[in-house]
Amino acid sequence: MFRLVWKVFFLVLFVVPGADSRAQQHGRKAHKGLLNEIDKSLTASVGQYKLLAQHLPEDRFPVTYYEASKKWVTSGSEPWVGGFYPGGLLYLYEATKDSFVYAEALRKLKVLEKEQFNKTTHDLGFMMYCSFGNAKRLAPRPEYDTVIINSARSLASRFNKQVGCIRSWDSDPGRFMVIIDNMMNLELLFAATRLTGDSTYYKIAVTHANTTLKHHFRSDYSSYHLVIYDPKDGSILKKQTVQGAADQSAWSRGQAWGLYGYTLMYRETKDPVYLQQANRIAQYLLNHPNLPADKIPYWDFNAPGIPATARDVSAGAVICSALLELSGHVNGKTAKTYFTAAETMLRSLCSPAYLASVGENGGFILKHGVGNYPKNADIDVPLIYADYYYLEAMLRYKKASRR
Ligand code: GLY
Repeated sequence: MFRLVWKVFFLVLFVVPGADSRAQQHGRKAHKGLLNEIDKSLTASVGQYKLLAQHLPEDRFPVTYYEASKKWVTSGSEPWVGGFYPGGLLYLYEATKDSFVYAEALRKLKVLEKEQFNKTTHDLGFMMYCSFGNAKRLAPRPEYDTVIINSARSLASRFNKQVGCIRSWDSDPGRFMVIIDNMMNLELLFAATRLTGDSTYYKIAVTHANTTLKHHFRSDYSSYHLVIYDPKDGSILKKQTVQGAADQSAWSRGQAWGLYGYTLMYRETKDPVYLQQANRIAQYLLNHPNLPADKIPYWDFNAPGIPATARDVSAGAVICSALLELSGHVNGKTAKTYFTAAETMLRSLCSPAYLASVGENGGFILKHGVGNYPKNADIDVPLIYADYYYLEAMLRYKKASRR
């Protein structure tokens, strides 16, 4: 009863009464100048990906590029990044209708397809929904539905009832490892429930999000990177970082995954608890004293040496895209705050400080990403996932301008 009253109270106070409400329109009015920048960037990005495509073997996916040695780093279809290149190409096709980028996306989907049966990774949402989800959205085909359903089935096979989570890494069977990144994979499960009518996927997503909400967050709403559970009873063995500066630090991309993850949970369920969590994460990020004026974060909000350390454009792009969506789920001043912050981020990303000149950067779109700082891997380089969320953010901004 109390929960119901709280839900109604929350909905009346904070949630947008209708997608076209005047308050929302007011808070999310797109700027002509930025729209022009975005259009220029989208056209240039098509040119960049045509260049990138020339350097890709048929069965490989781009990861990053090292300018000093002029070396492209590529992967097979199995790592977590496989879906971003076809997904980014599909966003570019949506924006420009360029036939080359569509054909290139379809070629790569063919290579990626087999991962629908991969049960060794929790990254299937990144891999199969950023790619096949977008392909289905633009041109539905029954074979895309099959891939999405099989991928969700593979992802669901990693769910443990005792823990209430989907397992992230398999490296130690006695320690059930869950990283905040895993929130991003839940979108695939909602799609599978819509396609099959089987609520199992939906319930797994909700249970995973609830367990993560309970255990991954600190009192200031920053999150741990990794929580290790006992697989037998779900008790917590350890909370720590892997890619962040310290166990108690706020690894920037992890915070971005959390923000995006709870925003999508609200979109899919309309449970105000998730909206409240997304709002709390957004407040934490936007009010953080170490968030630079251009709003592109350092690789960790508590990185040693700030300001003399690397920015992470991938965290910036994910936060930007998430804020654009979140601004549509709230109203008035809050909507305006999120939308304006996302605009600042987009202006930064569209500027030469982060956007590569045409013909440079190995064909990647953005510069200055950080893959794994503690491992000394991929620091201050382009990253395919930074490009993907940047393209998504630009399209979201253009859509907001049409409402
Ligand atoms: N999911 C891996 C990363 O964010 O680096």
